Amino acid sequence: MKILVVGSGGREHALCWKIAASPLCDKLYCAPGNAGIAHEAECVPIEASDLAGLCAFAEDKAIDLVLVGPEAPLVAGLADLLTEQGTKVFGPSRAAAMLEGSKGFLKDLCAKYDIPTAEYGRLADPTSAKSFVRESDMPLVIKADGLAAGKGVVIANTLAEAEATIDEMMVEKTFGAAGTSLVIEEFLEGEEVSFFALVDGKNILPLASAQDHKRAGEGETGPNTGGMGAYSPAPALTPKMQARVMKEIIEPTVRAMADEGQPYRGVLYAGLMITEDGPMLIEYNVRFGDPECQVLCMRLKSDLLPALLATCDGVLDTLDLRWHDDAALSVVMAAQGYPGAYREGTEIHGVEKAAALDDVEVFHAGTKAGPGGTLLSAGGRVLNVTASGRTIVEAKARAYAAVDLIDWPEGFCRRDIAWRVSSQHN
Ligand code: AMP
Ligand code: GLY
Repeated sequence: MKILVVGSGGREHALCWKIAASPLCDKLYCAPGNAGIAHEAECVPIEASDLAGLCAFAEDKAIDLVLVGPEAPLVAGLADLLTEQGTKVFGPSRAAAMLEGSKGFLKDLCAKYDIPTAEYGRLADPTSAKSFVRESDMPLVIKADGLAAGKGVVIANTLAEAEATIDEMMVEKTFGAAGTSLVIEEFLEGEEVSFFALVDGKNILPLASAQDHKRAGEGETGPNTGGMGAYSPAPALTPKMQARVMKEIIEPTVRAMADEGQPYRGVLYAGLMITEDGPMLIEYNVRFGDPECQVLCMRLKSDLLPALLATCDGVLDTLDLRWHDDAALSVVMAAQGYPGAYREGTEIHGVEKAAALDDVEVFHAGTKAGPGGTLLSAGGRVLNVTASGRTIVEAKARAYAAVDLIDWPEGFCRRDIAWRVSSQHN
């Protein structure tokens, strides 16, 4: 088979690593890819936002399967365009991608189908948004309706903060069109976990749980990022809790999307809060998490490709996946300054030494090849140093031993990934 992976981050590197290892894969392309992905796939210089270019390439090369990594091309309709031209694609249609593309769509769906989530209001103008917050208890969570690269969520502790956030999102338009309408919801308390499942429109195949660290600084301080590290499994998602998540959240969602005439196909990534009253849905993403995907790929023993194909073909009920008993943990190395301004093109040494350690993979999130075989940074999140181990604590020790072999003065990482997991948990 000829496969095309769309995207250029650590998530796509991990996916390419798994797919390249499949005996079913004859040729692997990645658009646009990065310097690490280039070891697994032929990188082609087409951006993930160039829908027409991606479709033309898939047709020209007679690609058998396109796997779309990030959400933006899915929300823009890439899966629909590929399907129309007869190219098989892993990833939801534009209509089904609204689960991530519009927070208001998701909340209304939850209300209609009784899926547990925070109480909310959907507000279309600043005046009604401000009267809504004046009548609500603090803290409140204020969310821009559309895609905002993971940054469109503000937790407001006071009425003044809530009103200022409404002005920023709706009047000053800090997130552009994404802030034209808002979802304002109740603040949920509990432990946050992520859960992933493959969905073929009707059948659901649970994958695994993970936990990530969104803040840039140790001890969950500093600005929100795309994620500074992740581990799997998430101890808070016990088998009993996972069964509840499936029955109370994932299954009703998949049935609801089918009933609405927008069947969901692809990977469903549920952001959950495990509260005293049980699991509640915070959000859905219509793609693998980054860096959660990296730890899932480390733990997956089975070939990923047949699972992707079964998802596209609606036969997930015929498939079983095998997992390593081991846990996995990934540490993100980012350019100093990220998620604010940072330099690109700085030299990184020692990646081969780190990757040569047992049970360690270094996935590239933002790199490019420099002159004379050097490796240069080319983004905010740059490397995902990922390790497996019998326990999360063991995986963590291996991952940081690998991090310590990487010589990159312009980079930084959090040293406290998986701080919630003490050795007693394992
Ligand atoms: P989202 O972009 O919806 O994932 O929101 C970003 C982060 O904000 C989540 O990962 C949570 O940590 C937090 N968050 C979002 N909604 C809520 C909520 N209703 N209650 C508490 N925390 C929330
Ligand atoms: N790591 C969070 C995300 O992929 O959205």
